[in-house]
Amino acid sequence: MKPITLPKDLLFGSATAATQIEGGDVNSNWYHWSLKGRIANNESSIVAADHYNRYKEDTALMKEMNHEIYRLSIEWSRIEPQEGVWSEEGIKHYQDEIKGLLESGIQPLVTLHHFSHPQWFEEKGQWTNKKSVMYFMRFAKKIIEAIGDQVNEYCTINEPNVFVTDTYMDGKYPPGHTDDIISYFKASKNMILAHLKSYKMIHQLRRKMGYKDTRVGIALHIAYLEVNGSNKVTKLSKKLMNYSFHKLFLNGMVEGRLTFPIGVGYPEGKAVYCDFMGINYYSRHLIHSSKNPAMLFGEVKVEENLPDDKLNDLGWEIYPEGLYKVLKANYDQYKLPIYITENGIPDATDSKRAKFIYDHMVEMSKLIDEGVDVRRYYHWSLLDNMEWNEGYGPRFGLIEVNYETLERRIRKSGEFYAEICKTKEITKTMIDRYLRD
Ligand code: GAL
Repeated sequence: MKPITLPKDLLFGSATAATQIEGGDVNSNWYHWSLKGRIANNESSIVAADHYNRYKEDTALMKEMNHEIYRLSIEWSRIEPQEGVWSEEGIKHYQDEIKGLLESGIQPLVTLHHFSHPQWFEEKGQWTNKKSVMYFMRFAKKIIEAIGDQVNEYCTINEPNVFVTDTYMDGKYPPGHTDDIISYFKASKNMILAHLKSYKMIHQLRRKMGYKDTRVGIALHIAYLEVNGSNKVTKLSKKLMNYSFHKLFLNGMVEGRLTFPIGVGYPEGKAVYCDFMGINYYSRHLIHSSKNPAMLFGEVKVEENLPDDKLNDLGWEIYPEGLYKVLKANYDQYKLPIYITENGIPDATDSKRAKFIYDHMVEMSKLIDEGVDVRRYYHWSLLDNMEWNEGYGPRFGLIEVNYETLERRIRKSGEFYAEICKTKEITKTMIDRYLRD
């Protein structure tokens, strides 16, 4: 293993999402989903990591870990628990949390929709309802008016592609439809429109407040897709999957263009609708052909007989080279500054995380050497959290959470990462300390 030096202006921190860490909220669709027993082991989002009450302690930990940046999300159901009813308490909570981050020298990147929303919005058909765009805009406006003078960077919507897949194809997220391709595309269209309109609105509102440094983007999950074998049908599946999972959203959210089957043309005008390209990268997807006609896009499987050190606790392949391939291809195409808005590993024993981080830093450093404009790295995640329908089993945290006592403890890999945040280097001493068995 070789030492690495990264640019000093590449910023480091971590990412979280409200539902996964906060606890205490009874008005979100995920709380209702847990009441239906749809989270592994019948778990609930009601306590999570109790971050809502412990955000000061968590901010202090981030500071201790030399974070320069932090990606957090705002829980819409805390701001608008009932349709059109705004919670001053919810708003003040986030203003206070953000104030604490800024006072600690940590720059926030705020996500407005990260997989969850109020139950009332869910009951109206959530993103399949045409009015969802208007509801989201109303919420987004409220947030910018409340925190626009504190925060200049926003992700409008997190991983719309994973969201519609897990919600409408795989039945994992509320309302749990399976193979509902019509809703998949309806919701995708509305999410794209919500991004385009809110991109403009956030810029306008902050411009009126006198700020010129607004940056708005998305956080899109981009997997490295590869075909298993040389079968023609599988190759076609890869094309279809790449289109419906990646391109449809890139066309829409970056270029402002609706493409088949959700529309044609530029509903908000021809322009670039991202000031940065937020990419969440985790793994390689190997595509196999499927006999099931509903699996129009093929089936994603993990390569057979992979050695244990190539697999994470959820059975996903660890494939750092994919970060290079995905970022390079998207940078060449869009030439936008890149924020790695998520990258991480479920690893309960903390035996693979430091190596995972090292290997991804190697790829990042290669990209930067080749002129790819990578500006931020947000590790997923700051602390252990509720992995949506998978519950509390997967441990993604740089910080371990004891769910009995809610105590936090920085993992050894977390100490390693904290040193990277501070020095932007992986030295021989660090390699000896953290990466030798
Ligand atoms: C992403 C998602 C996060 C987190 C992560 C780990 O898809 O945005 O909320 O769950 O995956 O699986």
